[in-house]
Amino acid sequence: MKIARGYFLTGTDTGAGKTFVAAALIHALGRAGLRVAALKPIASGCRREAGVLVSGDARRLHAEVNVPQSLADMTQYAFAPAVSPHLAAVPAGVRIRFAPIRAALRAQARQADTVIVEGVGGWLAPLGRKVFVADLAVALRLPVICVVGLRLGALNHALLTVRSIAESGMPLAGFVINLRDPRMAYRQGNIDTLKDAIDAPCLGIIPAGATVRRAAACLDLQSLLTTATRRQRAATKPSC
Ligand SMILES: Nc1ncnc2c1ncn2[C@@H]1O[C@H](COP(=O)(O)OP(=O)(O)O)[C@@H](O)[C@H]1O
Ligand SMILES: [Mg+2]
Repeated sequence: MKIARGYFLTGTDTGAGKTFVAAALIHALGRAGLRVAALKPIASGCRREAGVLVSGDARRLHAEVNVPQSLADMTQYAFAPAVSPHLAAVPAGVRIRFAPIRAALRAQARQADTVIVEGVGGWLAPLGRKVFVADLAVALRLPVICVVGLRLGALNHALLTVRSIAESGMPLAGFVINLRDPRMAYRQGNIDTLKDAIDAPCLGIIPAGATVRRAAACLDLQSLLTTATRRQRAATKPSC
């Protein structure tokens, strides 16, 4: 079964569901028989545990990976303040560089079939002066998956993000609709609009209040698995 060496997960906003969907994607790919690693290379809002800053997002992704990977392998830049990383980096006296993240991706790609990389914030969240999350995705040369946290206002955020991804030159492997507002008016109309406007496969529609396992069952991996056998393809069809 063939798959890209990794995917870069971005989203329409902080709280769109990047970590949740990334965890579900790792789970689903693992169940499809792939060795899956993860990175949360830049994280703010980290907690100090035994003297080390630990990212809650990295911990959630770590719970799903199926290769020997330590939490420390997952995050190259961890900051305590829950603010944009470019601001958190200043008092920490750190400049975010892509080389250590590229090296971490290479190291994980050696032991995994694919590496799921969660961005931070949205696609144009700043990482430094005139350096953005988009630049990290380009530096890692990974196809992008966009998580649309569907609520009022998300259509604009989603379409701006998709347009900016296209401008970056990175392929959009697909998008996931995460139903953040269970009572959203005209929900189906919003879903149809996204599917119509975005020229990439919809990899799944995730209900609100789902577990990671349930969300994994809602993902359609077929377009990510390029040379799967028919039986493997059947196993990767969404069940919701
Ligand atoms: N479909 C969903 N069902 C249940 N909980 C969800 C869902 N989507 C997101 N969440 C929860 O909402 C919160 C924000 O999602 P998260 O994945 O952390 O967003 P992001 O990584 O984009 O900032 C988390 O507590 C997450 O577990
Ligand atoms: Mg997150």
